[in-house]
Amino acid sequence: MDGNGRWAAARGVPVAEGHRAGARALRRTVEAAIDLGVESLAVYAFSTENWARPPDEVESIMELMDETIERELPDLAKQGVRTRFFGRRDRVPQALLEKMSRLEGETAHSDRLSLWIAFDYGSRAEIVDAARRLLEDGVRPQDMSEEAVAARLYAPELPDPDLVIRTSGEQRISNFLLWQSAYSELVFDETLWPDFGEERLRAALEEYEQRARRYGAR
Ligand code: FPP
Repeated sequence: MDGNGRWAAARGVPVAEGHRAGARALRRTVEAAIDLGVESLAVYAFSTENWARPPDEVESIMELMDETIERELPDLAKQGVRTRFFGRRDRVPQALLEKMSRLEGETAHSDRLSLWIAFDYGSRAEIVDAARRLLEDGVRPQDMSEEAVAARLYAPELPDPDLVIRTSGEQRISNFLLWQSAYSELVFDETLWPDFGEERLRAALEEYEQRARRYGAR
C-alpha cells in the first residue's frame, strides 16, 4: 500500500493524514474486491523496516491499526470479511496484539473474502524464522522439502498470490511474500495508494487476465 507519504506531501498535510487516507483506500479496495469476486487479498501494512521511520509516524500507524480494528474491520466483517494478521509478534504493542487476535477470532467464520494483513512483516525474517523452526522441530536433511518450509511460514494457510499489485510507480518487491510469490504475476500501478480503489483494482485484474501463466513449463 505504497504512496501515502507522497500523497500527503503533495497536499502539504502531515504524513499521518496520508496513512489515514490509506486506511480509507483499504476499505474501498476490500469492498471492491468482494464485488469483483476476489476470495483472498493480502496487504502490506507495516514492514520490519518501517520501525526505522520517525517515532511519531510509527505511533500514528499503530494508532491507525488500532482504530481500523475497532471501526473498519468489524464493518467489513459484516460483509463476510475474515481478517488475519501475519508477521513478527514480539515488537507490536501488547494491547494491539490482543485486539488483532480478538478480531481474528471474531471473524474466523466469515468466508466471503479472506483479508490478510502483513504487520511487522518482512519476507526474509519470515524465511529465517521458518528455518529456525525446522531446526527446532528436528526435521532431518532428507525430510526437507518445499512443503516443510511452507508449513512453517507465518501464515501457512495464506494462498500463493496469483497477482501482486505494487502501487505508487515503484517497481520492486520490497521484501513482500518472496517465497509465496515465486510464480505470481506482477502489476505495477502509478496510483498512490490513497487514490487506489475499484477502478484501479479492476484494471489490474484485467491486465492479469491477459497474462499466460506457464510456471516454467511450455
Ligand atoms: C507506505 O506508504 C505505507 C505504509 C508504511 C503504511 C501503510 C498503512 C496504511 C495504508 C494504512 C492502512 C493500514 C493500517 C494500519 C490499517 P509510504 O509512507 O511508504 O509512502 P511513500 O513511499 O510515498 O513515502
